[in-house]
Amino acid sequence: MDNQRYDERPIGLFDSGVGGLTVLEAVARRFPEESFLYLGDTARVPYGTKSARTVERYTLQVADCLLRRGVKGLVVACNTASALGLAALRAQSPVPVIGVIEPGCRAAATLGGGNRAPRVGVIGTRSTVASGAYPYHLAMLDSAIQVISLACPLFVPLVEEGWVDHPAVRMIVTDTLTPLFTQRLDALILGCTHYPVLKGVIAETMGAGVTLIDSSAAVAEELRRHLGGEIAPAPRGATQRLAFLVTDVADRFKETATRFISGIAVDAVEMVDL
Ligand code: DGL
Repeated sequence: MDNQRYDERPIGLFDSGVGGLTVLEAVARRFPEESFLYLGDTARVPYGTKSARTVERYTLQVADCLLRRGVKGLVVACNTASALGLAALRAQSPVPVIGVIEPGCRAAATLGGGNRAPRVGVIGTRSTVASGAYPYHLAMLDSAIQVISLACPLFVPLVEEGWVDHPAVRMIVTDTLTPLFTQRLDALILGCTHYPVLKGVIAETMGAGVTLIDSSAAVAEELRRHLGGEIAPAPRGATQRLAFLVTDVADRFKETATRFISGIAVDAVEMVDL
């Protein structure tokens, strides 16, 4: 007899803007029977320049909105909110919460050469870098890992503006990443969910010897561990539903999203007040 519990409610995902769609694309593809409800806090993007207290407050408000719509689990598809708001959210959420930082760290920790612990670069928003969350979680996995962190404050505005192929992007990316060129990195964690959109140019800039870690695959793996355990999966054969909420200017969100997300259709964007 099949004792598996099923739950057709969606899983909630959120970010300050369009960046978390890189995570949504990965999980929606990996779990085609699961439904997802995405919220982009476009009225308050960017989070990465704001204080810990403010980001924590935003994280709890956004999660509350998704919980009121009946999600069965939460994926914080934003590194800044994961770094600064995850602990508070986990302490009060009635449903399981998955962040993006621990899965990305686990993926990086395996990338050393021979017996040597890896040298790992981490790029993220100013607030994520200042939080020290990545060095902390990497050290928990292996205290020998050497971590070099760099804030890249211009990357999020480029992505929110949909500037991906623009010639200025290469210049900004190269200039920003220059301090990492001499660091002999094994891996570079894209510690902001907006950055995978710039992955092509970041990869070219860093060269083939540096493995880029986009935590969306690691988050999908983490979700797999939860589904069937803490989170009941959708019934077999269920049709996937994707819905989108934003806190401001729905049309712009849709336009920017469609420019760089090809694996999922971003339509039916609803505006909400938190
Ligand atoms: N995409 C987000 C992150 O992963 C937030 C960027 C921002 O709002 O500054 O950190």
